[in-house]
Amino acid sequence: MRVETVQLKGYTTLGVGGPAELWTVETPEDLKEAAQAPYRVLGNGSNLLVSDQGVPERVIKLGGVFTAWDLNLTPRNGAYITGWIGAGAMLPLLVQEAARKGLSGLEGLLGIPATVGGAVRMNAGTRYGEIADALEVVEVFHDGQLRHYRPEELGFAYRTSHLPPGGIVTRVRFRLTPSTPKAVREKMALVDQARKGQPKKKSAGCAFKNPPGDSAGRLIDVHGLKGLREGQAMVSLEHGNFIVNLGGATARDVWRLVQRIRSVIPLELEWEVWG
Ligand code: FAD
Ligand code: EPU
Repeated sequence: MRVETVQLKGYTTLGVGGPAELWTVETPEDLKEAAQAPYRVLGNGSNLLVSDQGVPERVIKLGGVFTAWDLNLTPRNGAYITGWIGAGAMLPLLVQEAARKGLSGLEGLLGIPATVGGAVRMNAGTRYGEIADALEVVEVFHDGQLRHYRPEELGFAYRTSHLPPGGIVTRVRFRLTPSTPKAVREKMALVDQARKGQPKKKSAGCAFKNPPGDSAGRLIDVHGLKGLREGQAMVSLEHGNFIVNLGGATARDVWRLVQRIRSVIPLELEWEVWG
């Protein structure tokens, strides 16, 4: 286990966030020890707005055994189940490896820069599928124990889940369908196409959830808010629902921009705010 004080801006895709004590855990024993005091869990930091003051709690990051994965399938009750996939593993690597092996079920998650655990927590997805659709079982650490849950028990819905309080996803098994690399890559090309309008600059993905039947990006666009700026944070010119860091933006800049957008359109934040 490694314990160090870091600037969280180095651990978030938006590139924003102050100091915290980072506990990188490598075994279930480390996890038990780290969870003895108030904590937060960090995945790849791709859905977070972290305060410039940082956070007082321990920030737990899954390393070591929690990053191992086994995509070999076992037939069970007419379905095919993977081995255990560590929650600290990077989803983009998994999506590519599944494609290489011709396994279908994760294509819709192409382009989501998450860890498996963060993707489960947020029920990450695109219009081509959410991670909950492919889950068979989820192992969660809480109250000092590791417990197994079926996805139906975890309250998955659009960009949300109901993990037990303080729950840390430690590993999962997916239900995938044997296919061919060609067929899997064809589906991935559709997903890739749907992401073409998204910016490449530093961001935390879509800032707001889509209201039922509409698109937050479209609404921000028709209200003329693209290009709106606070300090070094700007509403992307490419896609209205992305706030981009032009270089050196602070959480304060980003939060001010969020508030300005919300003063015009009442949108629900998709990001989690820390601090
Ligand atoms: P973090 O941002 O680190 O954490 C998010 C939440 O999950 C926090 O509450 C954290 O405490 C919790 N968490 C993290 N790990 C665990 C764990 N092991 N156990 C329990 N809780 C945990 N999202 C989409 O849904 N669809 C998209 O198409 C999409 N596109 C994106 C594109 C870009 C360029 C970027 C930057 C982001 C995009 N996102 C998208 C948002 C983001 O990738 C997802 O919300 C993702 O699920 C966050 O995962 P993470 O590992 O980065 O989690
Ligand atoms: N639109 C505009 N102007 C904009 C942005 C979008 O007019 O500035 C229009 C588009 O032309 C389209 C509609 O709004 O007609 C929807 O836009 P898009 O296809 O880009 O999808 P989205 O609803 O904005 C959602 C997810 C993304 C996911 C894509 C692809 C949410 C909040 N966003 O975006 O997820 O990648 O679909 O499936 O659900 C995320 O959650 O962080 C995220 C990036």
